[in-house]
Parts: sequence; C-alpha cells; structure tokens
Amino acid sequence: MHITGLDEERHDQRWEGQRALVTGSGQGIGQAAAQLLASKGVRVAVNDIVPERAEATVGLITQAGGEAFAAPGDISNPSTVERVFQQLDEHYGGIDILVNNAGIIIKDTLDNTDLERWNRILAVNLTADFLTIKQAVRRMRTQHYGRIVNVSSIAAKH
Ligand SMILES: NC(=O)c1ccc[n+]([C@@H]2O[C@H](COP(=O)([O-])OP(=O)(O)OC[C@H]3O[C@@H](n4cnc5c(N)ncnc54)[C@H](O)[C@@H]3O)[C@@H](O)[C@H]2O)c1
Repeated sequence: MHITGLDEERHDQRWEGQRALVTGSGQGIGQAAAQLLASKGVRVAVNDIVPERAEATVGLITQAGGEAFAAPGDISNPSTVERVFQQLDEHYGGIDILVNNAGIIIKDTLDNTDLERWNRILAVNLTADFLTIKQAVRRMRTQHYGRIVNVSSIAAKH
C-alpha cells in the first residue's frame, strides 16, 4: 500500500507519546530501534546489561530532542525485569511497545559448547522474552492496546 506524504505524517503522529521498552539497546540494532522510535515521539526505556551502553543510547536520544531513560540490567533475570517494568510505570505510567532485541549467539561447535553456555543462550534469547512479554501483556490487556516485536535470527531456521 502506498502512503502519501500527508498520510505518512498522520501515521507518524500516532507514535507520539507512546511508551516503549527496547531490550539490549545499548548498541547495534536495538540502539537503532530505540533511536528510531524516539525520533517519532515515542518515550523509550533503554535496557542493556552494560549500564554505560544504556546511558550512551539515552544520551544520543536526548541530544536529538527525544525522551528516554536508562533501565540497565540483565533482562534474563526475573528481578531485573520486575524492576524495569516498575521503572516504566513510574516514569511513563506503563508500556505500549515492547521490543525484545537482546540476544547472544554461540560462535562455536556443538562439541565445544558446555551446558552452562547453552543455558545462558536459552536464558537471554528465550526466557527473557517470556518474562518481559508476561509483564507487558498484563499492562497491554487492561489498556486494550500494545505492540510486541521479538527480534530473532535466520539462525533460528537452521
Ligand atoms: N547483527 C546481525 O547481523 C544479526 C543477525 C541476526 C539476528 N540478530 C539479532 O538481533 C539482535 C541484536 O543484534 P545486534 O547485532 O545489534 O547485537 P549486539 O551484540 O551488537 O548488541 C546486543 C546488545 O544487547 C546487550 N545484551 C546482551 N545480553 C543482554 C542481557 N542479558 N540483558 C540486557 N542486554 C543484553 C549487549 O550488551 C549489547 O549491547 C540480537 O537478538 C541478535 O541475535 C542480529
């Protein structure tokens, strides 16, 4: 469907004031997603396991005139997830958009991968999404609105 300039503007206005959490947004794809959302007027909670990275993304967003706060921590940890959503409630009164972007990969053979590493991959790539979606859906249901994006990889198909 073609969107004309005016429609595009109206479309963009619909983002204004919405509230997002982007996990692992201290660099890379997550950072770009957080910046893009903020440029459309979305208020963003920037999560990353490395606090300095989260702060850096917040700096980029605020310098560009957007609104964001840092919500650092390991998103596969249930207590981090609880805290991050509490912060979202306190700062913005809830959430409209969840982007589950944080992810890690094994760059090694199966033989060389130990159980600890395997469990870590599952925790960050899978359990974290389960935890954040649970918290988000609870809030989205009561407001009858919400958008959830889970970033995967072509590797998931292999
Ligand atoms: N870059 C690619 O070509 C590519 C391809 C396929 C899929 N992906 C997926 O896209 C997503 C982002 O990729 P990227 O290349 O931007 O990754 P990246 O490694 O550049 O950035 C990921 C960020 O997530 C953070 N992070 C890692 N574990 C975390 C945790 N437990 N809690 C909170 N933050 C955590 C890291 O500190 C880092 O800042 C990942 O899920 C990745 O699997 C990327």
